[in-house]
Amino acid sequence: MIRWKMSGFSQLGLLLLLLVLLFTSPFALSRSLKCPEGKSCSNRPPVVLIPGDLGNQLEAKLDKPSVVHYICYKKTVEYFTLWLNLELLVPVAIDCWIDNMRLIYNQTTRSTEAPPGVDIRVPGFGQTFGLEYLDPSKHSVGMYFFTIVQALVDWGYTRDEDVRGAPYDWRKAPNENKDYFLKLQLMIEDMAHKYGGPVVLVAHSMGNMYTLYFLNQQPQAWKDKYIKAFVCLGPPWAGVAKTLRVMASGDNNRIPLISPLKIRTQQRTAVSTPWLFPYAHTWPNDKPIVSTPSANYTVNDYERFFKDIGFEDGWAMRQDTEHLVQALQAPGVPVHCLYGTGIDTAEAYRYSTFPDAEPEVVNGEGDGTVNVRSAIQCKRWTAEQKQPVKLVELPGNEHVNMLLNFTTVKYIKDVLLSP
Ligand SMILES: *[C@@H]1O[C@H](CO)[C@@H](O)[C@H](O)[C@H]1NC(C)=O
Ligand SMILES: *[C@@H]1O[C@H](CO)[C@@H](O)[C@H](O)[C@H]1NC(C)=O
Ligand SMILES: *[C@@H]1O[C@H](CO)[C@@H](O)[C@H](O)[C@H]1NC(C)=O
Repeated sequence: MIRWKMSGFSQLGLLLLLLVLLFTSPFALSRSLKCPEGKSCSNRPPVVLIPGDLGNQLEAKLDKPSVVHYICYKKTVEYFTLWLNLELLVPVAIDCWIDNMRLIYNQTTRSTEAPPGVDIRVPGFGQTFGLEYLDPSKHSVGMYFFTIVQALVDWGYTRDEDVRGAPYDWRKAPNENKDYFLKLQLMIEDMAHKYGGPVVLVAHSMGNMYTLYFLNQQPQAWKDKYIKAFVCLGPPWAGVAKTLRVMASGDNNRIPLISPLKIRTQQRTAVSTPWLFPYAHTWPNDKPIVSTPSANYTVNDYERFFKDIGFEDGWAMRQDTEHLVQALQAPGVPVHCLYGTGIDTAEAYRYSTFPDAEPEVVNGEGDGTVNVRSAIQCKRWTAEQKQPVKLVELPGNEHVNMLLNFTTVKYIKDVLLSP
């Protein structure tokens, strides 16, 4: 009897000791965050996906004072898909599309506005549909995060519950997306509490710059509490060379029907593009990125570059945004930096006619979009933060296709299942 009582007491003591240990150990948080009934969430951290430039759907509703062509809609009752909708990108219709998609930069407020009567919104914050497929009709050409989300679902995740998307207006840089970061913070906190532990962030391309900016704003205690890891896919930490071509002569890379000079009208108005111009902290300061018969432009010549292409707003946009993540301040969370190599990646352009003709492309190393010297800048954090930083080269991986590659998906799984 007595022995039984004693063992009962010692069991209680053990339980108390365990509780004390749990709440004082580094894992206290993940234990104290509640797991919903009937769900085993202890070894399945919630996941937030942050897409890149062009990487989520946008919708528009119109009530315009005028249109550029009689076939263009002046007024719509409902929101409709502006990106990605292939039907809007065919000749003639594309003029309407450009006039709705463009932003107007205001030199006084140093910010952009939609054209009069155009209301743009980002559908599906907190959901995954807007970044799984860019095109709601699910054309495979617009397939983006689908493979990764579907793999997560196959491992037991639930769309819009413990795996969610954080889409945003990628035409703008973080300085014009303040509300987004607050929504992202609240969503991460909500998911950590609902699903029993800190969140894994998976970003692609420019989404990494957005995520870095976000993490740089958060106190370290918040990051320790809410972020388990940051998986960076194809990160352009120091910018990408192809942005200069986009601004100078336009780039129709993804959609062959489109004339580069035509699409340039819209592309020049997107502030996120000059934000992603190569940064002097990483790029060779003496090597021209753009050469013309009458001038060379290095990473230090952007003011002259914008003047010479006849788009001086571009220089103002660069100045507004250059400081946002220029310091590449360490994120202060465990980092996994995955980047493709072995694909021809533009690192310089030679124009015989500037800027209204297609340039000759000088290729270097990278994933076809992001130059490798930019992607590997996460290595500087190995010395600047105590949390681990892993760099993983993925030979033969193209910038967008890396999201479909088994190696990437497997790596993400390993991160999610690691203790
Ligand atoms: C720019 O913004 C200022 C301040 O809001 C406004 O007064 C001005 O009309 C705007 N300029 C243009 C061209 O819309
Ligand atoms: C541009 O730079 C190259 C060397 O990189 C030089 O040969 C050429 O003369 C320069 N062109 C002009 C217009 O300055
Ligand atoms: C997937 O990635 C691996 C590792 O980088 C690479 O060897 C392979 O060729 C890629 N597969 C495809 C289909 O791109």
